[in-house]
Amino acid sequence: MMTGKNTGGFYLTTPIYYVNDVPHIGHAYTTIACDALARWHRMRGDVTYFLTGVDEHGQKVQQAAERRGMTPIELCDEVVVNFRNLWEVLEISNDDFIRTTEDRHIEVVQHFFKTLEEKGDIYKGTYEGWYCVPCETYVPDGQIGDGNICPDCKRPLTRMSEESYFFRLSKYQDDLIKHYELHQDAIMPKARYNEVMSFIRSGLQDLSISRTTLKWGIPVPGDERHVVYVWLDALINYISAVNYPVPGKAWETHWPNVRHMVGKDIIRFHSVIWPAILMAMGLNVPVRVFAHGWWTVEGEKMSKSKGNVVDPFEMAALYGKDAFRYFLLREVPFGNDGDFSELGMVQRINSDLANDLGNLLNRTLQMIEKYRDGRIPGDCSLNCMNETDEALRRLAEKTLDDMDREMDGFAIDSSLKTLMALIRAGNKYIDETQPWKLGSDGSGERLDAVLRTLWEVLRLSAILAYPYMPSTAARMWAQLGLSGRVSEARHSSWQWGKTSGEIKVNRGDVLFPRIDVAVWRKEKAARDAAKKEAASVEGQVTERGGADQISIEDFKKLDIRVARIEAVDAIEKADKLYKLHLDLGFERRTIVSGIREFYKPEELIGKKILVLCNLKPAKFRGIESQGMLLAAETTLDGRELISLAVVDDDFPAGSPVH
Ligand code: MSP
Repeated sequence: MMTGKNTGGFYLTTPIYYVNDVPHIGHAYTTIACDALARWHRMRGDVTYFLTGVDEHGQKVQQAAERRGMTPIELCDEVVVNFRNLWEVLEISNDDFIRTTEDRHIEVVQHFFKTLEEKGDIYKGTYEGWYCVPCETYVPDGQIGDGNICPDCKRPLTRMSEESYFFRLSKYQDDLIKHYELHQDAIMPKARYNEVMSFIRSGLQDLSISRTTLKWGIPVPGDERHVVYVWLDALINYISAVNYPVPGKAWETHWPNVRHMVGKDIIRFHSVIWPAILMAMGLNVPVRVFAHGWWTVEGEKMSKSKGNVVDPFEMAALYGKDAFRYFLLREVPFGNDGDFSELGMVQRINSDLANDLGNLLNRTLQMIEKYRDGRIPGDCSLNCMNETDEALRRLAEKTLDDMDREMDGFAIDSSLKTLMALIRAGNKYIDETQPWKLGSDGSGERLDAVLRTLWEVLRLSAILAYPYMPSTAARMWAQLGLSGRVSEARHSSWQWGKTSGEIKVNRGDVLFPRIDVAVWRKEKAARDAAKKEAASVEGQVTERGGADQISIEDFKKLDIRVARIEAVDAIEKADKLYKLHLDLGFERRTIVSGIREFYKPEELIGKKILVLCNLKPAKFRGIESQGMLLAAETTLDGRELISLAVVDDDFPAGSPVH
């Protein structure tokens, strides 16, 4: 029998999303998963609170704004609208939406900072290290990849040195280990728990938590040359949104029950840094941090440059928001990585939603209309059920219990599999009981019992489907002739045969029309072609310098100078490369350049060329290249051509280019 136990409080958060870009399928995934969990808990009668929002400070946002010639807040105000709209389109039931530029948040961040400083857990020092701008994080020396690249995003690191405030993270190493030894389900899945534990055990260093090199952030109270490190700022959103530390406010109820849903890439921030800060503040640490996996697209990493970023607005418009939600939640074991394919989604919609769920509803309502004029008794007493009906009833009750357990463990995909097994059992029950035969031979009671059993399975299925597919559940509810809203159903109605009086069904449109794969393929090909064309038009604009503008500040970062080519060496076993010896006026340098097939050494020696001097050195064939020469390139009659950017012979080496 369904326990429907109330677990008390359930406060669930998504990461807050950076506003440097438009929302994609990864953002949609986390938020949809949280929405299903929050809706599930509301149905159980738990005191539920669901938070999402945006992360608006930091270098990434500042740089994105610069690129677009806007102020950071102008960019934030523009991009935040995309997120809010997407959550509306996807029917996300968040209770609040926080922006880190709001006063209510800024005040709490400053409160944290002051309190920790007063407690001696924040101190001032100097930080020097390798910084990853895209990840907004310093990379510890031991983790730097070959060629100074970030171990996470694989992009080049920048050397930075600055006065900084530090948080005494090292002090909390033992407390964190003790806590996680006692609460082994506080980090899920298990593989992530193990990964975090070994990270903590390998030794924690104090954490730099302020920046002087950046303006776009929350000022450090009392020392406004510094802004608070964006990750500390961001993590605090989870508690600032519930009005910490105001007495009597929501945080008192919700904070002890907080669970964070994150992607696997940001697990450490949430399960090491954040709990340590909370410990230092004397606050509860999260009940659970769950890390889900990442989506690739048709086997490839999703990236703007590949043009394969899946647009959730487009998917919802093409396939319907519920089908999209269902696919994301059902397709991949929650916690694992997954691969998104539109064809996979079409197949999943056809098999599970059209064939199984839609069909069960449609067949049942059709029979109720045909044999019973749309009406069946609501109070079909349990004693009119035979063993076949009872077996289905037992399965339905077990389904409720199993799904409840699975949702408790955030096994969202398994819970949907469990639901679909009930739906399939309903279809099988129709095949076994053959109601059309009962209809024609007029054995009234038996037909009532069968139709009533099917109707009941569908009523329970609508309740169970609601957290994942809220609109579909509402449509099922209405077609089944139920009054009130499915969203208001609570576990008290999760019992077999709860309805009394006559039921009058209202058959409507099919829930999920079958998608004809052959037609779909043609339409998809046309869509892809249109996208390609749009991208190439965009590309041409970029080539002409019309789109993707940079600011003058960006340009000023380039140190381009005149250099005289003094000598040229061919590089062995690299038939495209030359090693060029350059005189830059103030120093001599070597660069490696791929111009060998275009110029003979004698055509180069003595030339005054333009060189980008402050490019990070890189090694080619073991030779360090300390800059990059500038050249124009084109293709003529299928042949690649280049022309070096040169200046007049008498122009002094070392002269800067503006
Ligand atoms: N702003 C930080 C989070 C701060 S929380 C205090 C951030 N933002 S993000 O916008 O870059 O990423 C948000 C979430 O999207 C992360 O959990 C990340 O794992 C997730 N995803 C980004 N790309 C993804 C996929 N391709 N697939 C699944 N999720 C992915 O990090």
